Amino acid sequence: MDIKGKNILVIGGAGFIGSHVVDELLKEDVKNIIIFDNFCRGTRENIEEALKDKRVRVFEIGGDIQQTDILDLAVKESQGVIHLAALWLLQCYEFPRSAFDVNIRGTFNVLESCRNNKIERLVYSSSASVYGDAVELPMTEEHPFNNRTFYGATKIAGEAMCRAFNERYGLPYAGLRYMNVYGPRQDYKGTYIAVIMKILDRIDSGLSPIVYGDGSQSYDFIFVSDVAQANVKALKSDASDKFYNVGSGISTSIKEICEMLLELTGSKLIIQYEPAGLTFVTNRIGSTEAAEKDLGFKYKTELKEGLLKLIEWRKNHKFNRGLN
Ligand SMILES: NC(=O)c1ccc[n+]([C@@H]2O[C@H](COP(=O)([O-])OP(=O)(O)OC[C@H]3O[C@@H](n4cnc5c(N)ncnc54)[C@H](O)[C@@H]3O)[C@@H](O)[C@H]2O)c1
Repeated sequence: MDIKGKNILVIGGAGFIGSHVVDELLKEDVKNIIIFDNFCRGTRENIEEALKDKRVRVFEIGGDIQQTDILDLAVKESQGVIHLAALWLLQCYEFPRSAFDVNIRGTFNVLESCRNNKIERLVYSSSASVYGDAVELPMTEEHPFNNRTFYGATKIAGEAMCRAFNERYGLPYAGLRYMNVYGPRQDYKGTYIAVIMKILDRIDSGLSPIVYGDGSQSYDFIFVSDVAQANVKALKSDASDKFYNVGSGISTSIKEICEMLLELTGSKLIIQYEPAGLTFVTNRIGSTEAAEKDLGFKYKTELKEGLLKLIEWRKNHKFNRGLN
């Protein structure tokens, strides 16, 4: 899609990844960027800088994908849609019905509105959660769906609905399956905190970081700005009706990331090992070939560099986190 002079709707645009997508879109010559978000997890602070640009605004009437008439008004104004709104893994674990309402029904609402308003292109945020535990590495996009979580189930449903809307109504879309995303603006409050944030919280408080099990669980960590770039590339590309891994293709164990964080923060603390607790997936590394070939996307930020940016960002947010 040629996005020059176009209005782009970013659904979930005040969230962790969505706010970086807005920043990335600002580097392009788009006409307007409309943020549609109900702020259940997203924040004004995430988009504070972006809102200084006249092209960006928060949709004034509402921002919940469950309110279809309001959603439709926002979609009507737009030519391209990036849909990131969803409840996250642990929220879906605790509240499966809400997961259904937001991630499945909400995504259906977005798709229907895109079709009704003849949207030129949709980019859908899926997840590597669709794969579950790896049966082969790296995981290509053809890897079986071994997911066993409600969250993954909602993403599989979302993908299947994108495909059906494409088949039935010709809606052009690309879907992105993110690996483990990290970086500034990652949620640091409440119950639903990602592993890197938990480790850094412990280190900041002078407590040994806790690793559950032997720490050999390995993931593919990808910096949030790179994920945002993948979204813009997917929006601008013509590749349609396909899903792409968005990762670095590099395996890092939890033990390794913990050691890296101790080193980067200059901490002398020692890792505390605890019996394995609730884990959803223990091994997940994505193949990056298809995204590189079709979307021209390759990650740029090395893990240490990205972690340093995250640590720096956290320093400036200590007051808000109540850690000083
Ligand atoms: N962070 C990761 O590691 C990761 C990995 C794989 C996939 N994803 C997917 O990427 C997308 C963005 O994730 P994120 O990490 O930025 O999460 P996030 O929670 O920070 O962002 C989601 C945004 O959607 C908004 N939202 C939630 N329910 C809504 C509703 N009913 N109506 C409108 N807005 C609503 C939230 O307020 C939030 O701003 C999600 O679809 C998520 O499933 C994230």
